[in-house]
Amino acid sequence: MDSGVRKKAGFAFDVDEITGRRRMRRNRKADWTRRLVRETRLTVDDLIWPIFIVPGENVDEPIDAMPGVSRMSVDRAVEAARMAADLGIPALATFPNVEQELRDETGSQILVAGNLINRATAAIKKAVPEIGVITDVALDPFTSHGHDGILRDGVIVNDETVDQIARAAVLQADAGADIIAPSDMMDGRIGAIRMALDAAGHQDVGIMSYATKFASAFYGPYREAIGTAGLLKGDKRTYYIDPSNATEAVRDAGLDVEEGADMLMVKPGLPYLDICRALKDAFGLPTFAYQVSGEYSMVKAAALSGFIDYERVMLETLLSFKRAGCDGILTYFAPEAAKLIAAGRG
Ligand code: PBG
Repeated sequence: MDSGVRKKAGFAFDVDEITGRRRMRRNRKADWTRRLVRETRLTVDDLIWPIFIVPGENVDEPIDAMPGVSRMSVDRAVEAARMAADLGIPALATFPNVEQELRDETGSQILVAGNLINRATAAIKKAVPEIGVITDVALDPFTSHGHDGILRDGVIVNDETVDQIARAAVLQADAGADIIAPSDMMDGRIGAIRMALDAAGHQDVGIMSYATKFASAFYGPYREAIGTAGLLKGDKRTYYIDPSNATEAVRDAGLDVEEGADMLMVKPGLPYLDICRALKDAFGLPTFAYQVSGEYSMVKAAALSGFIDYERVMLETLLSFKRAGCDGILTYFAPEAAKLIAAGRG
């Protein structure tokens, strides 16, 4: 706008003077310019799909607190893995809903080589070898109290738990797990798992550390999914990180890096994007966010109420992880997101 036009319009200001002639909107003026300057993209390669496994055959059991997600028997999980691989999803993360009668004080079922989680891994890797299988090695699906560690006199004992999960990690790797992802937050677990895997000849099995796992209320629907909701006494604050603490979270992740973690994870996701960025900048390791059950269910519930544009909100949350420095996202939206991306909506 020249000064003549400006005068005519009667503005009391001159935007070119204010901005020094820099106008941000020039790069936003058309779809083609916006595509040209786009910094972050979500692709199917960014997606890890968490799935829930139950005993039995041909079971597909909807989870009330997670509309659109179900628990699947191993045979159905194999079909789901095939579908995910066909969509181009690189990896699955598996979580078992173990029979209540097999759960005990120490989670001893995790040390049974042919347990539910290991049977699922073996079946998936046999039928769909090209998809990565990431197994959680925490005790909570196996304990009668729903804690991630062994409970002795009201205390979650660290070192005994680490010993047990390191041995369980070897069994998971024996079953074919490609990456072990310990979510229990015990001290020293990454180093212990690395030593145990290496001693068993599993040098190629990686460790994705749930490096910064916060004592969060967002895990609620997951606990229904794996049947620990009614079991858990107390909370997990003696081992998960206080949601108030970012500096401590970076220190904790640093220990995991020193102990040999190959990849880092931040959990939950959306409320912790600052931690994603901090870890990526501090360590430069492949960094993942876990968009947990409560985050999923909030978006679903709002969509079912007609309050939001479901697809756009979902894709925007996933994109935000990429912008925050993440290399990928564990998300229950993975298959839906993969389809949208394939349709050019990503
Ligand atoms: C526990 C574990 C949790 C999740 C996965 N493994 C949290 C918990 O129950 O304390 C949460 C996943 C989700 O909420 O989607 N080892």
